[in-house]
Amino acid sequence: MCGIVGYIGRKEAKPIILNGLSRLEYRGYDSAGIATIESGKLTTIKSLGRVSDLEKVPGMESLKGTLGIGHTRWATHGKPSRENSHPHMDNSESFAVVHNGIIENYADLKDFLKDNGYTFLSQTDTEVIPNLIHFHYSVSTETGNKKFIKAVTDTCNMLKGSYALEILANDYPDNMIVVRKDSPLVIGKGQDEKYISSDIPAILSFTKDFYLLNDNEFAFMSRENIEFFDKNLRPISKTAQSITWNAGAAEKEGFEDFMLKEIHEQSKSIRETIGSRITENGSSSIPDIDVSKDYLKSVNKIFIIACGTAMHAGYVGKTIFESLCEIPVEVEAASEFRYRNPIINEKTLCLFISQSGETADTIAALKLAKSCGARTIAISNVIGSSISREADYTVYTHAGPEIAVASTKAYTAQIALLAIIAIHFAEILELNEEKVNELKKDILELPNQIDEVLKTKEQIKQFAQRVYKETDMFFIGRGVDYAVALEGSLKLKEISYIHSEAYPSGELKHGPIALIENNVTVISVLTNRMLVEKSVSNIQEVSTRGAKTFIVTNQELNHSFDTVINIPKTNVLISPILSVIPLQLLAYYISKEKGLDVDKPRNLAKSVTVE
Ligand code: G6P
Repeated sequence: MCGIVGYIGRKEAKPIILNGLSRLEYRGYDSAGIATIESGKLTTIKSLGRVSDLEKVPGMESLKGTLGIGHTRWATHGKPSRENSHPHMDNSESFAVVHNGIIENYADLKDFLKDNGYTFLSQTDTEVIPNLIHFHYSVSTETGNKKFIKAVTDTCNMLKGSYALEILANDYPDNMIVVRKDSPLVIGKGQDEKYISSDIPAILSFTKDFYLLNDNEFAFMSRENIEFFDKNLRPISKTAQSITWNAGAAEKEGFEDFMLKEIHEQSKSIRETIGSRITENGSSSIPDIDVSKDYLKSVNKIFIIACGTAMHAGYVGKTIFESLCEIPVEVEAASEFRYRNPIINEKTLCLFISQSGETADTIAALKLAKSCGARTIAISNVIGSSISREADYTVYTHAGPEIAVASTKAYTAQIALLAIIAIHFAEILELNEEKVNELKKDILELPNQIDEVLKTKEQIKQFAQRVYKETDMFFIGRGVDYAVALEGSLKLKEISYIHSEAYPSGELKHGPIALIENNVTVISVLTNRMLVEKSVSNIQEVSTRGAKTFIVTNQELNHSFDTVINIPKTNVLISPILSVIPLQLLAYYISKEKGLDVDKPRNLAKSVTVE
């Protein structure tokens, strides 16, 4: 994971870098560091902990350089410590490097460097990089800029693994080199200045024009110029793309936390994700996916592959696709799929869901599916993300930047988009016209209904105040309600650190009910009219054993239960978009009651770019 930021221009680099780093802290917050060049001299300052701790380190006030690099770390190799913090320098302190990713062959490279007289101060994989650059630089016969550039490309040609790098050199006080392979990096363009970052929102307040680097592409920058080239030093021409997100989208805008803001943004993000893709009377339109009826008829299996919350959206997608398109769907964690030789061929359609578009396991699974002949569709929230560049087709959720580590608005936008894609395919296949038309109408009503659901937040807050000290909770549901239960349980674990399990309601009696005793909290989701009776029986089973019950439902229940959150009625296929919101709010308020950092839960990172 880790976040990197850089600046080269005419302003002081430090405040720009610290600002960017604090916005990238969702990617890791074990330590932070910065390097700048001033009067031809490289200076690095690092600190254990957060960016706010780095700001207080003595010497920070005198960093005045107008080019610099910064890093916020999520520890992989080497425990969180000052010496393992980035930037790392070579032994002669001529090069400074920040790195996001993992160098898989770092042990071999370390041995190679040790044999050549280099020593190491940290336990990180990264420290080999500045030393390798120094090694190549010192034996180089090149001159001028090419000497620096070639030392970097020669180094990268020895690295195995993933990396986004920013590199400064004492001998080049007016230049910076950046490169990426399997880790994200964007370059924002200003007037005689460049902003570098792991993601767009971190630097959105400075520029809206971005160069997107592909794997193994390098950029050599001065204040005025930027040259792109590949690992064989062949020049590449690139044009900057303009991003439509506004800077406010990456601010809290009056909310206490990003998570709360993002929960409240869901009507907007669903409205924007729907866009003009469906209308009440016309046919659906997804120009990004160009598939024929013959092709769809040949598809005998759909895989939906993702990680975390995105995978939970996939579980809902499975029900929608099977119901409308009549094609069997399997949902799988990318980290499992990629290592188990799945049966895939040209009759398999694989959908990959990733908010960030940078999750390492999801990208690897996508590459595997492609190599086996499957067609691939990516669903991502980030324009130009790695996954979007690998897939045959990419469709974007328009949820806007999601900053809180725990995903909320991206999840509901993913479900909406899965439903829209399923509708589109069913229309191409000329299947289930009536169901499709009903679902379209119901999707279009969602934004207003979301605002209705948000009105339940006081009731949810009160329940959170009653249960926040508990250590275990259970989530139950049937069908798509079970899929939502999985997501509710994940949200609770992620931000409140309370152990919870999600079970299909009908499975309770096969084991978990043994754990139900007086005062245990059981959270149920109940939105399927056909299953009301059965689900109510399951809730009664736990209630008679003393459980506190919290029920999210759009059905009339003929029994009185502890806390019932009533949400608007909608099509069961998309009901998760509404029923998940009370669970997001419950996790949020419990976390707040416990006094935790909602947006940056311990040990987690938003974008998992390591395997
Ligand atoms: C991490 C995040 C989750 C997210 C998952 C997949 O675990 O903490 O919130 O759901 O990665 O991320 P992606 O960007 O691929 O959707």
